[in-house]
Amino acid sequence: MKICVVGTGYVGLVTGACLAHKGHFVTCVDSDPKKIESLEKGKIPIYEPGLESIVKNCDGKTLFFSTSLASAIKDAEVAFIAVGTPPQKNGDADLSYVEQAAKQIADLADHSLVVVQKSTVPPKTGYRLQELFKAHPNHSNLSLASNPEFLREGTAVSDFLNPDRIVIGTGSKAAQEKMHDVYSVFSAPIIFTDIPSAELIKYASNAFLALKISYANFLAEYCERIGANIDDVVLGMGSDPRIGNRFLNAGIGYGGSCFPKDVSAFVSITKEAGLNPVLLSETEAINKRQRKRFAEKIKSFFKDLNGKTIGVLGLAFKPETDDLREAPSLDIIPFLLSQGAKVKVFDPVAMDNAKPVLSKAVFCSNTDEAVSGCDALVLLTEWNEFKKMDLKKIKSLLKQPVFFDGRNVFKPSEMNKAGFTYISMGRKVE
Ligand code: UDX
Repeated sequence: MKICVVGTGYVGLVTGACLAHKGHFVTCVDSDPKKIESLEKGKIPIYEPGLESIVKNCDGKTLFFSTSLASAIKDAEVAFIAVGTPPQKNGDADLSYVEQAAKQIADLADHSLVVVQKSTVPPKTGYRLQELFKAHPNHSNLSLASNPEFLREGTAVSDFLNPDRIVIGTGSKAAQEKMHDVYSVFSAPIIFTDIPSAELIKYASNAFLALKISYANFLAEYCERIGANIDDVVLGMGSDPRIGNRFLNAGIGYGGSCFPKDVSAFVSITKEAGLNPVLLSETEAINKRQRKRFAEKIKSFFKDLNGKTIGVLGLAFKPETDDLREAPSLDIIPFLLSQGAKVKVFDPVAMDNAKPVLSKAVFCSNTDEAVSGCDALVLLTEWNEFKKMDLKKIKSLLKQPVFFDGRNVFKPSEMNKAGFTYISMGRKVE
């Protein structure tokens, strides 16, 4: 099938590359000529395991890049919209890029075309696009579907290629059949719904996962008050299959390009509908509080951070990505700096992205350098290489063996045995 994907950001590029990998003929379009030029050379603008090799394998065979929407639409049967929906100041998603893309596609639709909305948009945006199409001279050629993505950064390629479910919202029989064909190369069940329900599934899922994390973090705070242990609490809870043990890891909370943005947009749109979304606002409040509580633990340990040197491991919002959007490091490191500490940092892949935004930190080229001579070590992202580090060596490099673990990676008893003063989230200090 000939497919066009508008937008070569995170979602667009992964969607285009994976559909090409599955044998469809895909042209990815972006208005930025520099981006297209570098993609044509096989250069991927984001760090995403597996993506570069798929792009290289398919490039020029089933995957093409272009700045011209007109030529990409020419023979396409399906056009995916995968452009940004950044949050506005009031938390609402900015839909202007989506509407602009839909209009440009409509202008070029001189043949039958299914337009698929893939960007995360508030429920009922699809209706707005349908209105736009209805009023367009090419309306009889256009049908609309909503196909939310559930990709996680760092595992986006395998998530796309092995989905749990594929959600398609549409009111058009023709679009339903076409989308069935697009995804017939996947084995996951396809859930067909109307358009607003498909749009809502995305917000509902992300908000629920964020809520689960905040619930674990709320419990962690309570554990600290009463001397209980969050690891045991979530193990006991999560062993009930109705609850499940995933997304219950307490620590410094969620970041990234999706959860913070989507929860905030969901608060705003449910308020608009006359609801009182305290459940969602509290999810956000707990998430913000965890970072603050963690930073305060570091401060209160030293009483005065002035003149102290703190080593920080991990800057990205989670492992296997170079993405810093809404990362806890962006709150915690400036706080430590504001208290007069010198902060030495290292992240396996996010250093280039971090340099402009954390310019007052000292950027180190490896873990040992970041740890050397520090009064304390702070773990913010649970990269595998940090999980496996040689603790004996780390202890010998530190000025004093103080370890703040924002991700509860290590066992308190083992850290204490290894001679560390170990402080984490929601666990008994032994
Ligand atoms: C998320 C959704 O998982 C994905 O389905 C959606 O399409 C986009 O948003 P992503 O943001 O890439 O994906 O990362 P995810 O692995 O879900 O983690 C999000 C954040 O939650 C990270 O900051 C992570 O550290 C944090 N997290 C996750 C926790 O704090 N505790 C957990 O138990 C799980």
